[in-house]
Amino acid sequence: MPRKVTKAVLPIAGLGTRFLPATKSMPKEMMTLVDRPLIQYAMDEARAAGITDFIFVTARGKGSLVDYFDRAPELESSLKEKGKTDLLDELARTDMPSGAISTIRQQQAKGLGHAVWCARRLIGDEPFAVILPDDVIDSETPCLQQMVDAQAETGGCMVAAMEVDESETSKYGILDVTDDGSASVRVSGMVEKPDPSEAPSNLAVIGRYILTPEVLDVLDHQDPGKGGEIQLTDAIASQIAGDPGVWGFKFDGRRFDCGSKSGFLQATVSYGLKRSDLRDDLAEFIRDIDPALLK
Ligand code: G1P
Repeated sequence: MPRKVTKAVLPIAGLGTRFLPATKSMPKEMMTLVDRPLIQYAMDEARAAGITDFIFVTARGKGSLVDYFDRAPELESSLKEKGKTDLLDELARTDMPSGAISTIRQQQAKGLGHAVWCARRLIGDEPFAVILPDDVIDSETPCLQQMVDAQAETGGCMVAAMEVDESETSKYGILDVTDDGSASVRVSGMVEKPDPSEAPSNLAVIGRYILTPEVLDVLDHQDPGKGGEIQLTDAIASQIAGDPGVWGFKFDGRRFDCGSKSGFLQATVSYGLKRSDLRDDLAEFIRDIDPALLK
């Protein structure tokens, strides 16, 4: 029986250049969807899936991400004095037990595979999750929980998978699979950001992974791949030939690409409309937008 997954790596060292100038002095993972930063969506999903140890792979200028999950004594006592219990409850959602978050620096931007490899000593010899906070997934059962359940059946490495427009394959890791219609599909090939003309399918890797420690051994010696970076996709692909191999998991849920401005705005509207305190105002505003736009 596969070992329980309790550790998650969150690669958050990126510069967030796509959101400049907003990200000039603020990590992109601190950008807020409604009233919570992206990192909290990722952490909430991980905690719901039973993750207890979080490894932040960070870089200079990312200190506010660690502060965010620390206690805020002055703020807490001021809210207590004012009797603002609802806000105190909200703050409590960001509490983490001592030692639950560890941080590792990725000193050079050498790619996602390198970022994960930087966490190897804290991961040790057990399966682990990787969560890319840019990918926000709205689903009834949290996506990572769905994957933990599925990977307990298949074993091996598992990547979240979703069909994308054929013109967009060069933005993703793309899978070649034997599709039998089930949610977990055996991967027979995997390529990082192929041109549409060379893509084996339009089934893309989304930012949730459950990986076996063998992937870290591969990363120890891996050469740079696409874009001159050490690609996580290549390290996972090395496990395809083995048994239990690599699995794609077609999750249930809606994914927002919060690494793009358009995806971020869509997520903001969608999460805003789900909130009972905002829904009516926001829906009215959308209805009142120039009707020509909504055609
Ligand atoms: C990374 C991975 C890619 C994956 C994507 C999912 O790319 O390298 O394989 O499909 O995340 O969001 P990035 O978006 O960091 O360029």
